[in-house]
Amino acid sequence: MNRRREGGSKPCPDLEGKIATGSARLCVLGLGYVGLPLAVGFARRGFQLVGLDVDATKIAALKDGQSYIQDVQSEDVTDLVKRGLLQPTTEYGILRHVDVVLICVPTPFDAMKTPDLSFIRSAAEGIVPHLRPGQLIVLQSTTFPGTTEEVVQPILESTGLRAGVDFCLAFSPERIDPGNRVFTVENTPKVVGGLTPFCARLAGSLLARLTPEICVVSSLRAAEMTKLLENIYRSVNIALVNELALLSERMGIDFWEVIEAASTKPFGFMPFYPGPGVGGHCIPVDPYYLSWKAREFDFYTKFIELAAEVNQSMPYHVVERTGRALSLRGRPLKGARVLILGVAFKRDIDDARNSPAGRIIELLLNAGTRVVYNDPYVSSYSVGQNVFHRTTATLVSQELTPALLAQQDAVVIVADHRVYDYSWIVRHANLVVDTRNATREVTDGREKIVRIGEPLLQGR
Ligand SMILES: NC(=O)c1ccc[n+]([C@@H]2O[C@H](COP(=O)([O-])OP(=O)(O)OC[C@H]3O[C@@H](n4cnc5c(N)ncnc54)[C@H](O)[C@@H]3O)[C@@H](O)[C@H]2O)c1
Repeated sequence: MNRRREGGSKPCPDLEGKIATGSARLCVLGLGYVGLPLAVGFARRGFQLVGLDVDATKIAALKDGQSYIQDVQSEDVTDLVKRGLLQPTTEYGILRHVDVVLICVPTPFDAMKTPDLSFIRSAAEGIVPHLRPGQLIVLQSTTFPGTTEEVVQPILESTGLRAGVDFCLAFSPERIDPGNRVFTVENTPKVVGGLTPFCARLAGSLLARLTPEICVVSSLRAAEMTKLLENIYRSVNIALVNELALLSERMGIDFWEVIEAASTKPFGFMPFYPGPGVGGHCIPVDPYYLSWKAREFDFYTKFIELAAEVNQSMPYHVVERTGRALSLRGRPLKGARVLILGVAFKRDIDDARNSPAGRIIELLLNAGTRVVYNDPYVSSYSVGQNVFHRTTATLVSQELTPALLAQQDAVVIVADHRVYDYSWIVRHANLVVDTRNATREVTDGREKIVRIGEPLLQGR
C-alpha cells in the first residue's frame, strides 16, 4: 500500500523547502504537558506557530504571556507571543493557513481501562473542514499500534483527499519527561514513522529542526509500538523491584542497599526503584492500550497485566505498612492523624494525575484516618472519584510547619520533592513512612523512619 501511495508526485512538494528555510507554518493542537513545550520549542527556533486548544482558559493565559506548565517559562511565552511567533487560539479555522499540524491531545482510558480515543477523533474531525493538499499531519499522542492508520487516516480521508498522495501523515511519539532538567523536548531524540517513506522523511526533517537526533522507522505502527515498549519496559521493571522490595521486607533485607550494590555492575543492569505505585499520564495508562489491542489478535500480554497488578497493589501496601507502624506504637489507624508529603505522581512536578497519593488517601480515609497533605506544587487535590471507594474529598495543601509535623501520628512521603528538607521533617515528626528512600541521608532520628523495602521491626 505504501509503495502505491509513494508513486507519482510528492504529496507536499513545497514543504521540504519551507521546513529547511524555517518558513513552514506550524500548528500544535493540544497545549498540555506535551504540546506547550513543543510549541514553545519550535517558536523559539523561529517557526511561526499556532497553538490550538479547546480550553479557552489556557489560551487566555498564553495570550496574557502566562505559562501553566512548570517546565515552560512565562517570560518565553510573553516574548514569543509579543514577537508573533506563538499565536494561541481556540479557532480551528486557522488550520487552513498552516502547513503542519502536530496533534498532542490526551489518550486516557475509561473506568474499564478501555482506550478512550475520543480526543484523537475530535482533533482529526476538527482538522477535516480545513485539510488541504500539501499539508503534513503528525500524531504525537501515545496510543496503540494501528491508531494513525485505522482511526486518524479514515477521518482525514473523508475529505476526499488521500493520505500519502495529497497530504502527508506521520506518527512521532512524544518522550517528554516533565521535571527532567537534563533531557527536554529540545535534546531528546525523536522516533518517527510515516504512512509512506516520504511522509516519514518529511516529518523527520521537521523534528530535526527541534532536536538533533531523529530515528526514522519503517512504519506508523513501528513508531506507535516504540513508545509503548518504552513505557511498558518501565512499568515491568518498576513492578519487578516493587515485588522484590516486598519480599525483602519479609526476609529482613534492606532492598535499597541491594539496588545500590547491584548498580555497581557496569553492564547488564539498570537500577529501578520501588515506590508507592506508579502515576501520571503514561506508565499506568499506556500499557493498557497495548493489552486492549492485543486481544484483537487473540494475544494476552501477561507481563503488562502482571506489572499493573503489582504496581497497583503498592498504595495498599503503603497504607498497610503505615497501619502496622502505628500499631507497633500502640496507635490504631482509625482516628490517627496522617500527613501525606507530595501528592504529585513523582518528584519536582505539579502533575497529580493518577497519582498513587490518590488511592493512599482514599484508603486512609476509608480506614477512619484524619488525612492532610502538603505539596509545594499542588495547591488542592480531589480524591475519591473511584466508585469503589465511596468517600470523596477535596483537600488543600497545608503549610509545612514544625507544629503541623508534630501534630501527626505519621508522615507519609509519597513524592520525594527535592525542596523538602528531610532531616528537618524527621526531626519534627513522630513517625515517617518513607516510600521513596528520601530519608537515606538523614542521620538523626532514624528510629522514627519506616521505609518500604526494609524490615519493619518492633520499636521502629
Ligand atoms: N504528560 C507526559 O509526560 C507525556 C509524555 C509523553 C507522552 N504523553 C502523551 O501525550 C499526549 C498528551 O498528553 P498531555 O500530558 O500533554 O495531556 P494534557 O491533558 O496535559 O494536554 C492535552 C491538551 O489537549 C487539549 N485538547 C483536548 N482535546 C482537544 C481538541 N479536540 N482540540 C484541541 N485541543 C484539545 C486539552 O485542552 C489539553 O490542553 C497523551 O497521549 C500522553 O499519553 C504525555
